[in-house]
Amino acid sequence: MGSIDRAREVAAREALKYVRSGQVIGVGTGSTAMLFLRELHKSIINGAVSNVLLVPTSTETEIEIVRLGLVNLLRYPWQVDHIDVAIDGADEVDYGKNLIKGGGAALTREKIIDYWAREFIVIVDESKVFNSIPSKHPIPIEVIPFAWSIVRTRLEELGGTAELRFGSGKRGPVVTDNGNYIIDYMPKSVINIEELERVIKEIPGVVEVGIFNGKRVSRVIIGKVDGSVITMD
Ligand code: 5RP
Repeated sequence: MGSIDRAREVAAREALKYVRSGQVIGVGTGSTAMLFLRELHKSIINGAVSNVLLVPTSTETEIEIVRLGLVNLLRYPWQVDHIDVAIDGADEVDYGKNLIKGGGAALTREKIIDYWAREFIVIVDESKVFNSIPSKHPIPIEVIPFAWSIVRTRLEELGGTAELRFGSGKRGPVVTDNGNYIIDYMPKSVINIEELERVIKEIPGVVEVGIFNGKRVSRVIIGKVDGSVITMD
């Protein structure tokens, strides 16, 4: 196992400490969130955790819940009246717990579930922590297909680069679980990430922005390659 994989795994395992029997759990998207789901699965099998319900943040996560044989625990948002805790990954984190999310194009459902949760816990490896964000990863923005070129132009006018995301395994743009497109926006400079989120969300055609406000994040668990974890509360 690579050292980054190990770092992600220790973060995922640490997150289990914040899960209790009887809870409604929001399950994030991406490789780190999948590691958490597999750890949770082990705890369910060995009886350490029981009577939980799982609300997925994407089709990927939904399929994995079913694949692990946990379909009886699967719930959609309209089947529960609250989420106790959501555990999710991130592409980048700063020291104010602000996040860039949406590398897997699941940002809209993630934000819905993560922000609804009474506790929102982020699990990352140490390579994802930066002094300021976005650093390496552009900001994913979900847009309705009709508006993609207009939104791209408006973003370029704000300064920086904006590109329609294309994926592998399919010709044409990446289509999200909600039937929308993704524009990846790398601003020239960011003075205030909270203000940037607000400005982008006001562009007509934007569904959601992959900037998650640190005030909405309860805790960030950072797994390190040496096998230790640190937590930002
Ligand atoms: C998906 C996400 C993921 O949480 C983010 O991309 C991190 O993924 P990984 O754990 O695979 O690095 O926001 O939309």
